[in-house]
Amino acid sequence: PALTHWLDPLPVPPVVSATGIGTLTARSYSSHKFHTELPGNANTFGFGGADYLGPTIEARRGTPASITVSNQLGAHPLAGSIDTALHGAVPADATAPRISTHLHGGNTEAGSDGFPEDTFAPGGSKTYSYANDQQAGNIWYHDHALGITRLNVYAGLAGVYLMRDAVDTGAANNPLGLPSGAFEIPLVLQDRRFNADGTLYYTPAPWAPEFFGDVATVNGKAWPNLDVGQGLYRFRVYNGSSARFYNLSLSNRQQMVQIGTDTGLLDAPAPLSAVLLGPGERADLLIDFKALPVGTKVVLQNDAVTPFPSGTPRNPRAGGAPLPQVMQFTVVAAAQGPGNTLAVPTGPLRDGVALPTVAASRTALAGRVAKVRNLTLVEVPGPAGPLVVLLNYLYWDEASMDSRFAEKPLVDTVERWNIINLTVDAHPIHLHLVQFLIEQRQNLQTTQYLKAYNATGPRTVTPGMSPPPAGGPTVPAGYPPLDPTPFLQQRPVPPAASEAGWKDTVQCPPDMVTSILVPFGGRVANGAFGRSFTGRYVWHCHILDHEDNEMMLPYEVVGA
Ligand code: C2O
Ligand code: CU
Repeated sequence: PALTHWLDPLPVPPVVSATGIGTLTARSYSSHKFHTELPGNANTFGFGGADYLGPTIEARRGTPASITVSNQLGAHPLAGSIDTALHGAVPADATAPRISTHLHGGNTEAGSDGFPEDTFAPGGSKTYSYANDQQAGNIWYHDHALGITRLNVYAGLAGVYLMRDAVDTGAANNPLGLPSGAFEIPLVLQDRRFNADGTLYYTPAPWAPEFFGDVATVNGKAWPNLDVGQGLYRFRVYNGSSARFYNLSLSNRQQMVQIGTDTGLLDAPAPLSAVLLGPGERADLLIDFKALPVGTKVVLQNDAVTPFPSGTPRNPRAGGAPLPQVMQFTVVAAAQGPGNTLAVPTGPLRDGVALPTVAASRTALAGRVAKVRNLTLVEVPGPAGPLVVLLNYLYWDEASMDSRFAEKPLVDTVERWNIINLTVDAHPIHLHLVQFLIEQRQNLQTTQYLKAYNATGPRTVTPGMSPPPAGGPTVPAGYPPLDPTPFLQQRPVPPAASEAGWKDTVQCPPDMVTSILVPFGGRVANGAFGRSFTGRYVWHCHILDHEDNEMMLPYEVVGA
């Protein structure tokens, strides 16, 4: 259906404190309408009484919280998209969907991390303990049930979790002079597709490599408008889409000022004309509307191709159109009351003492690297696009059953992970538990590397794992992956300004080795987070379709 842009106002989720929330109930709803002109409501999931997404949870560094998630869901609105050939997905998910809630970006004990197999069905509940001992940042919570994550999140099981600390307090008159209250707004970007009756559409089973919607939604409304005052605004921008990258810019060519990455503030404000976000990534952005006359309309636009960056759809059924417009801002001083007179901060955002600078942390981490791991992103091709996308040519069940195949960093050590992308598109790779820094990226002679890497195989897959790979129980290459160093070419490139801060999800472009510096414990994290945890976590691609079909592996932080 053709929907008029900028008709509906942007919804802003209610704010609750992490310590005050108690129980967060996941329920089914049929009251949510994504756009006024859609003929009917959608069947959705929501957390905490919201009929889609959940409340914004605010936590304070140093104040731990326990949150009980209760599963009261009914039948799955996307039952026709459940593919029970995928790991974890079972027929019962259609009528009694399992859930597991993950705090994305949280420094969380293993038992509370929302491990993908740590699921519970309707009628069940689980209490999660959150340490809340990390620097202020844009973290979020969302479902992580093995094999149906993409469908549970698409139906609405996600929400914003803002970490506050002594500097980035969230209060008016905060030390950095950042906008607060009505001037600080989360924007959860999700592309969606609708059936003619207004219900949610997702590619039906069997699984397809990527889903792309033809409608931009923000906080659960299609192409919304936000009335803004003539002031400075702080937007916490979350890419909550399944597979879509966004390269965001403003239609009046005004610059946005980025002040933070996924999990923390940058060293200094970075004025940018565009910000590229892969699925799972976040940007903390300031937009200054002070100089714009009342009545000015500014569109948040996007020019990232699908899939990114090849622009070559690998699955015709899943679409692949660009989504050039996301939302609109209308400057209406009166509706916003007095507005604010804050200016974009000019000084450093990190004081270098309580919050060491990112630059100093990068140097410190690079000097402490205790182990280097080489990890590959690979696809097993089929006649109509990839059949499966893998990490290290390993399957989830195989790595779970055979502990030789799980990465096992030692607690309180720093590792360099070289992520080697051998596919044609970018993958946003997310590590649970930790925050890390991007060190550099370097071009790879992919064909030569693949040839040498595959010569280390074929490796026989551990019997008993499912699903079997296409073409027999072997994979082309051995484990661990081959060292890419002899196949690197050109000069290494440092991270872009928009990603030169603490991250938990990193874009790994094709034909490149992306190197990250990862502290596996608070003692080596330069103040970014506090407590050190051991135990089993996961790392995966945040394209939810990939994560649901094998592009995810367990890893384990082991004790000293
Ligand atoms: Cu945002 Cu493992 O997820
Ligand atoms: Cu991927």
